[in-house]
Amino acid sequence: MNKVKLEFMLDAEGKPVYSVGYGDKPVIKPSPMGFTLADDAPFDKNFELTGSEQTTVDETWKPVWGEVSNIRNHYQQVTVHLKQKNNPGRLLNIIFRVFEDGVGFRYEFPQQPGLRYFIISNELTGFNLAGDHKAFWIPGDYDTNEYQYTTSKISEIDNTQVVNSATDIAIRVAPDKYAVQTPLMMKSADGLYINIHEAALVDFPSMQLHVDNSTYKLSVNLVPDAIGNKAYVHAPFKTPWRTIIVSDKATDILASKMILNLNDPSKIEDPSWIKPMKFVGVWWEMQTGKSTWSYAADDENLATDGKLIPGGKHGGNNDNVKRYIDFAAANGIQGVLVEGWNTGWESWFGNWKEHVFSFVTPYPDFNVVELTNYAKSKGVKLIMHNETSGSATDYERQMDTAYRFMNKYGYTSVKTGYVGKIIPRGEHHDGQWMVNHYVRVAQKTADYHIMLDAHEPVRPTGLQRTYPNWLASEAGRGNEYNAFGQGNKPEHETIMPFTRLMGGPMDYTPGIFKIKGYTPDPKRQVQTTLAKQLALYITMYSPVEMAADLPENYEKHPDAFQFIKDVAVDWDDSKILEAEPGDYITIARKAKGTSDWFIGAITDENSRNAQVALSFLDKGKKYVAIIYADADNADWQTNPEAYQIKKYMVDANTKLNLKLAKGGGAAVSIKPVTAEDKGLKNYK
Ligand code: NOJ
Ligand code: CA
Repeated sequence: MNKVKLEFMLDAEGKPVYSVGYGDKPVIKPSPMGFTLADDAPFDKNFELTGSEQTTVDETWKPVWGEVSNIRNHYQQVTVHLKQKNNPGRLLNIIFRVFEDGVGFRYEFPQQPGLRYFIISNELTGFNLAGDHKAFWIPGDYDTNEYQYTTSKISEIDNTQVVNSATDIAIRVAPDKYAVQTPLMMKSADGLYINIHEAALVDFPSMQLHVDNSTYKLSVNLVPDAIGNKAYVHAPFKTPWRTIIVSDKATDILASKMILNLNDPSKIEDPSWIKPMKFVGVWWEMQTGKSTWSYAADDENLATDGKLIPGGKHGGNNDNVKRYIDFAAANGIQGVLVEGWNTGWESWFGNWKEHVFSFVTPYPDFNVVELTNYAKSKGVKLIMHNETSGSATDYERQMDTAYRFMNKYGYTSVKTGYVGKIIPRGEHHDGQWMVNHYVRVAQKTADYHIMLDAHEPVRPTGLQRTYPNWLASEAGRGNEYNAFGQGNKPEHETIMPFTRLMGGPMDYTPGIFKIKGYTPDPKRQVQTTLAKQLALYITMYSPVEMAADLPENYEKHPDAFQFIKDVAVDWDDSKILEAEPGDYITIARKAKGTSDWFIGAITDENSRNAQVALSFLDKGKKYVAIIYADADNADWQTNPEAYQIKKYMVDANTKLNLKLAKGGGAAVSIKPVTAEDKGLKNYK
């Protein structure tokens, strides 16, 4: 397909081997495929080819929501049918899809007498790199994706130090110091951008990559279950797709729709109840220590009658929730998340307790009927919060009850959470059992017409196409680490879209305006400028975006808050204007069903000028641009809250020169000109 080439062959031992090229450059050198099965002979050699088929598909489909309103799915597919020469002649199919921006392949175990129920002890798929590429990686941890990224050569990857020093991540299980997570982003010395990930992760463990430092060979490492097995399979069965996205332009990686295309179409027949949205929440105040999730101070804080004694700092109380509802209503924000509304928070963390929370029992100072009615009267929706503290078994038992409760009180979306060690004990966040759990939650919330935002699940693999009610996941290092942890380095948000976001939207929780001063420690701050927080609404794509800061902090900056009020969350079109992982990203998006455009430009710790040609605007039409930029003397460390807002007339010939401070960014809203804008100066 254009420059992307795939080769497949069986070697002298009957082992399946594939390779991928881009133009005349090797991307993946001849690499192994296959499996070892527990209690069984190897399943990677002694094959013969019994047949193959080829097809070409070129179709366009419409996502329920997204970065663009039409997606072209154009690929050539080849299926190879393999049979082992020895008894019982077991069968394996491999399906390859070659796109203009990469290759996906999956294994299929057809129905057959010689292989029915089996356990995969290892997947042998390899990705033999053509050189010692620059890589943007986090450790291959079975339970978390919340690390900061490291940029290094493939030969330098060793996650020991990163894992040991990440004390702000509660659960770390990274037994292989040479393993990294996917999406893995790489850049070759000869200018190729290569991204390896997977698509349609269902009923299978998550794929990590083991790195050979001297040969640059990557090999699949599946996350094990509690007893060390990888996957339990009943044929017929298809594995997730292994994906290799490649281009000589970094912008093509961010624009790729290959992972979405490899997922099944939506299972939701009538998606009219699914609505992208912005929300505020009783949340950042807990993250920054102003209030608590729990009603009592801790789990010892019980009166003799066994009732909780109020700790005095509970955030999810009637008056405070009303304050957020009022703020949302006054600013056209659709949702209000309330965390810490339900019983259980006194002993929620670190005890590996199976039953912690009730998902239908409010604390005494949270009146669900009153607050639901209040929200309704203001045209705002409350967003449910179901933190499970990792006890998936307990959540499964309560799920129907919880969703009936949401239906009864008019909650149309839920944020789930899996902080802590998983129950069933010994399972991992990213193993087959939990992968199935997350999908069951997506399916069941869909049955109840509830939208889902999952925190701490396995990282996404494009399943939002199949379950469009699964609006977003966290599954990465969110903005919240700037509140309680070591923070996110200024380059963090320039790497995330190339890594974590490749599989799907992230609930990153942007929009923090008060950058410093939450704790006495002067070094502890959000590691961006205020203007960059605005730009993140564009560069960190999600159909659900939080305005994460406190109402009182927004009220101090109504002019800058206007951007958050105006910005869309669903798009007809997106233009990735410029991008370099680890350095900068500039994106323009057209709001769905309107002529309005929004631009976000961000940089890392270096200042930069982003040149933005507005050639995507309709020719001959006049627009008004509001530019929210870093002040001339802004700097993420020394002067992060300094910004300037300017308004100009622009058209398709305009070239904006956006000055981004160190750790800074710029956001621009562009709307067709109206009578009120008469006399506005042209941008020069
Ligand atoms: C971690 C989540 O990322 C955060 O958003 C949430 O507030 C806490 N867990 C408590 O559930
Ligand atoms: Ca950089």
